[in-house]
Amino acid sequence: MREKLELLRKAAFEELGGLTTPEEIEAFRVKYLGKKGELTAILKQMGGLSAEERPVIGQLANSVREDIEKKLADVKAETEKRALEARLQSEKIDVTVPGKRSPLGHRHPMYEVLDEIKDIFIGMGFQILDGPEIELADYNFTKLNVEEGHPAREWTDTFYFTEDSEVLLRTQTSPMQIHAMETMTPPIRILAPGRVYRKDEVDATHSPMFHQIEGMAIDKGITMADLKGTLSEVVKQLYGDDTVTRFRPHHFPFTEPSCEMDIRCHKCRGAGCPTCKGEGWIEVLGAGMIHPKVLEGCGIDPDVYSGWAFGMGLERMALGRFKISDLRLIFENDVRFLEQF
Ligand code: DAH
Repeated sequence: MREKLELLRKAAFEELGGLTTPEEIEAFRVKYLGKKGELTAILKQMGGLSAEERPVIGQLANSVREDIEKKLADVKAETEKRALEARLQSEKIDVTVPGKRSPLGHRHPMYEVLDEIKDIFIGMGFQILDGPEIELADYNFTKLNVEEGHPAREWTDTFYFTEDSEVLLRTQTSPMQIHAMETMTPPIRILAPGRVYRKDEVDATHSPMFHQIEGMAIDKGITMADLKGTLSEVVKQLYGDDTVTRFRPHHFPFTEPSCEMDIRCHKCRGAGCPTCKGEGWIEVLGAGMIHPKVLEGCGIDPDVYSGWAFGMGLERMALGRFKISDLRLIFENDVRFLEQF
């Protein structure tokens, strides 16, 4: 048995030198030191030994086990150290590599135009107002001198919330004139941009939701000349000093007199082209002197005060400004479109 134990130690030591992976090490441990391992197999034969031999062989067996265990622990520590070094090598981080840039977005082109328009009006002493998109018919129509039965109040044109046609999605930003007149005292100079809603089918020039900008100035002695001067100056600042304006008579229930303002086509300079549909002029807004009935209804004395007001379509301004051909592009928010601005 002594011989068997010595041979076992020798064989184990030889095998240990070739172990490299955790799996091999575990397989080795089971083979030599496990319950069904080779050392246990030898020890099971100790029953056949004499009383004198037994302690001697026992001692030898223990020292063989200790030797193998110690060497196994060394090999294990060594392979673990090598594995760790290999990992540190492969997972090395180069802190000098440049970082990834996260893409930065920018303002929507239409809101850029709105910001420019706001800046121009703020420079002229106007105040920016925000107001409700859900309105009362009273504010959207009645107080603006749009009487019952007027075609603009039709169910086919307006999104109503209630059967009695009292609550609706505002069809224009003009009710902001009423809100301003009811809550402020003249002199009043306000600009009120926002969303408006009409029952229109979507096409290249229509959308059931679009944006308007309402403007209004009320003071003593305000005339049509102030309206013309202010609006001409605004479009010059927006489109350039050589911008030419034209005012045509028109009708709106809440202004008297009323007009529409055109600007001379910036593309063909009035000769007629596809941009202005051959007209030479592009219509940009409706305006007029605030109707005395409207002033009076809001508690402002029309014998003391007068004022002008206008409403323009924001999408149209953006289309013209950036030479965009289709209104739908403004709302689709396709990044490939937006990236061009
Ligand atoms: N609210 C009108 C529209 O939607 C536009 C308008 C015309 C606004 C004349 C005004 C104005 O303030 O004075 O067609």
